[in-house]
Order: sequence, then structure tokens, then C-alpha cells
Amino acid sequence: MEIKRRRSVLYVPGSNVKALAKALRRGADCLILDLEDAVAPQAKAAARQNIRGFLRDGAGGQGEVIIRINALDSALAEADLAMIADAGADAVLVPKINGAPDIRSAAAAMAAAGVAGKTRLWVMMETPLALLEVARIAACAGARSHALAALVIGSNDLYAELRARPTPDRAAIAGLLGVCVAAARAHGLDVIDGVYNDFTDARGFAAECRQGADMGMDGKSLIHPAQIGICHEIFSPDAAQIRWAQEVIAAFARPENAAKGAISIGGRMAERLHLENAKRILFLAGMQGPQG
Ligand code: COA
Ligand code: MG
Repeated sequence: MEIKRRRSVLYVPGSNVKALAKALRRGADCLILDLEDAVAPQAKAAARQNIRGFLRDGAGGQGEVIIRINALDSALAEADLAMIADAGADAVLVPKINGAPDIRSAAAAMAAAGVAGKTRLWVMMETPLALLEVARIAACAGARSHALAALVIGSNDLYAELRARPTPDRAAIAGLLGVCVAAARAHGLDVIDGVYNDFTDARGFAAECRQGADMGMDGKSLIHPAQIGICHEIFSPDAAQIRWAQEVIAAFARPENAAKGAISIGGRMAERLHLENAKRILFLAGMQGPQG
């Protein structure tokens, strides 16, 4: 199983030359260079050229660079994909998808445009239909080229389309988010939580990060560099989780536990099923899990 560090996923408008120039130095795990909602219609062509330049000379850092294209049924997507075919990117993020057929169309459009097969497909989960179809969407994972790798929650579009009201506990969408996490886990995909618009409200942002992390989200979509530090803090394993992971791995490696499914660690039950998450925690903490 491939594990990628995708705690922080920062949107950068393709039209914002200043933000693009410093984007790699901000330290986010992933960048989404946006050609869609963050870019005004009259700025699309210039944004494409800016991103082409970024991919040519800027990329090559540690994190993934993802390009969000315009909707596949718009007149803009073809030129977006042609630019990516030429300049290369780690993934293409496709907005406004509604179901499994759209996943197949997206991969076919990438192939037709000449985008390299190793370029992954990420999709926005932002329409009511997509949320209802998420199990079938996630089941498209496993394609060998232009493979579906991540679901990205599009909370602004989702609230608007549902006519729901955003509240601090996200009651209107929390159930849908949980189903997205289940679909992602069922098919080996990552799932990235939606944005928090008020980038000056650190406390509210931290609370929403924590809610997403508690639900099983792999990371959060960000709109401003000020959100990166808090996001990393919350989506990285803390000292207690690291200690627990080390203890679980060490305990199951001991010969006396070789035939046991459940053991006690400091008065808490640990089962063999906890081993996989323990290894993931150590990887995300930047610590190698022990061999075997
Ligand atoms: N990515 C990279 N850099 C960013 C950034 C982003 N998303 N948002 C702001 N910055 C940079 C600015 O360029 C500025 O750089 P400087 O160090 O050269 O001054 C610095 O961070 C401070 O920016 P600030 O003045 O606080 O913000 P702003 O008023 O210029 O911009 C927004 C506010 C919301 C317009 C801007 O953050 C933004 O465009 N965010 C992303 C929007 C988006 O992509 N939406 C689509 C997905 S929902
Ligand atoms: Mg949108």
C-alpha cells in the first residue's frame, strides 16, 4: 500500500503570480494550482501560462503538485489538459463529477490529451449526486493509468448546492463526510477535507481540522499559508499516538505474543488489527516502522 503525506493541501490560484512564486517555500505537503473557481473567466488563459511556467521551473520539490482543471463539460478543460500533457503534474483534480461514468470520462480525457499515465486522478466531492454515488466513484480505484488516488471535499459548493447552512459542527454535511471516508477506506484512496474560509480564525480552523482528523480524513484543503502550521500539528501523530504505535508494534513482535490476537498494553486492549494503523502512524511521524 502506498502511503503519501497529504496532511496539508494548499489551493493556489493560477492567476496569482505572487502567490505561485512563493508557493513551494510555504511547506504544504501538496499544492493544488487552481484553474477553476479561484480564476476569473477572463484570466483563464493567463493562469494556464503561469502554471505552465511553474511546472517547468518551479516543481521538483518534495510534495505533490496537483492541477485543478475546469469542468470536463466546459469549453476550457481541453486546453487545461493540453497544458498539463506538455508540462507534467503529479495529479489532475477534476471538479463537478457526479458518478462513476465521470471518473472513466476524466481518465479517458487525460489519455486523449496525452497526459502521462502516471499522472493521478483526484476528484472533487462537491455535488449532491457525487455524494450519493461516492461508493461507486471510489470503486473506480485500481485503474493502471491515470489512477484515481484521492477524493477532495468541496465544502463551499456542497453547502451551496444543498442549500445547507455552515455551522461550527458541520451538522449538515458531517454524515456525508463520514460516508466519503468509508468509501475512500474501502478502496484504498485518500480523502482530503474541505476548506475553512475564515483564514484569520485560527481557533475555529483548528477545531475543524480536529473534527476532520477524528473522522479519518487524511488531510485538509487550505486556502492560505497561515493555515499550514496548525494543520500539520493536528494531522500529524502526537507523542501519545507515536508511543502507542511503538508499543503495539513491539508487543506483537515478541515471541510470547506470536499466537495472540488481542493483548493488553498498559491496561488497554490492542488487537492485531491495530498493527496497520500503528505502522502508518510511525510513517507519518517520519519514523520508520521496525522490520517484520
Ligand atoms: N497560496 C499561496 N500563497 C498565498 C495564498 C495561497 N492560497 N494566499 C495568500 N498567499 C500569500 C500572499 O501572496 C501573500 O504573499 P506575500 O508574502 O508575498 O505578501 C501572503 O500569503 C499573505 O496574503 P494575504 O494578504 O494575507 O492574503 P490575500 O488578501 O492576498 O489573499 C485570499 C486572500 C483568500 C484571496 C487568498 O488567500 C486566496 O486566493 N486563497 C486561495 C483561494 C482559492 O484558491 N480558492 C479556491 C479553492 S476554495
Ligand atoms: Mg467549486
